[in-house]
Amino acid sequence: MARFEDKVAIVSGGADGMGAACVRQLAAEGATVFALDVKAQTAHELAAELSAQGGCVTALEADVLDEEQFRSALQSAIAVAGRVDVLINIAGGSAAGMVADVDLAVWDRLYRLNVRSTLVACQEVLPAMRRQQKGSIVTMASISGLRGDPGWAAYNSAKASIISLTQSLAWEEGLNGIRVNAICPGPVASQRMLATLPPEAFAKYDQACAIGRMGRAEELAEAILFLASDQASFITGASLVADGGLTARTSQPTEFDDVRAEIFARRARGQ
Ligand SMILES: NC(=O)c1ccc[n+]([C@@H]2O[C@H](COP(=O)([O-])OP(=O)(O)OC[C@H]3O[C@@H](n4cnc5c(N)ncnc54)[C@H](O)[C@@H]3O)[C@@H](O)[C@H]2O)c1
Repeated sequence: MARFEDKVAIVSGGADGMGAACVRQLAAEGATVFALDVKAQTAHELAAELSAQGGCVTALEADVLDEEQFRSALQSAIAVAGRVDVLINIAGGSAAGMVADVDLAVWDRLYRLNVRSTLVACQEVLPAMRRQQKGSIVTMASISGLRGDPGWAAYNSAKASIISLTQSLAWEEGLNGIRVNAICPGPVASQRMLATLPPEAFAKYDQACAIGRMGRAEELAEAILFLASDQASFITGASLVADGGLTARTSQPTEFDDVRAEIFARRARGQ
């Protein structure tokens, strides 16, 4: 039996990037999936494509920044399906700004987009999961939530809040059979990254990872679905780092980095 046969899953940010990869994998493994996204057309196209292949995928249009719209989309999915087994809350985003003069409107929006939307999504699925005495929630943090970076305090601290929220909720709901875990990706070549980053930034991210390349959305979906599945039955309150080894070292280069630099230079020359 497939891991998600007879399960109902909701994926926010399910139209593109890691969210879409989760939707594809869940559908392939037998779940009834709701792909919620502000990009309605992309979500509908994905749902149509996967449904034509025999999957059971419904697109839901909602902006997670619009609390009323977001809550009502989640409620309608749960009402239609009659239950919800998995929530994967991917929708989020970043913005730069130094602490000394960060625009508070930017800061507030980022917290609403990342932290408050995670809270709202959890609040909406909890009643059904409690009734079922079973459920699994995966929140989208980041390795940025584990450290600080100059210019990224709003994003990093928002993701740190998601990790903390995840830990508290794991304790609040553990006796109700509900597991809550966070995923902490490193750099992933998602649609957003491909659209916004200059080519030289990709080379830097590749070199920052022990395995010499950025992650793919499909690889992150594998890690997220592991947390969401019954295979992770003893895992709750955890933050799973999936970063190609980026955070596995201190930041100071050593003489041995020269060897890696040579390998990257050879690759760049196509050797
Ligand atoms: N790409 C990375 O390197 C990386 C690393 C760590 C964490 N993350 C986190 O992963 C998540 C997804 O990032 P991605 O890189 O896959 O981005 P992406 O843009 O490729 O996908 C994000 C999806 O969320 C949707 N979305 C964005 N804002 C929304 C809103 N207000 N309401 C509803 N849907 C909305 C987008 O339309 C898109 O479909 C974000 O929370 C991001 O912070 C990304």
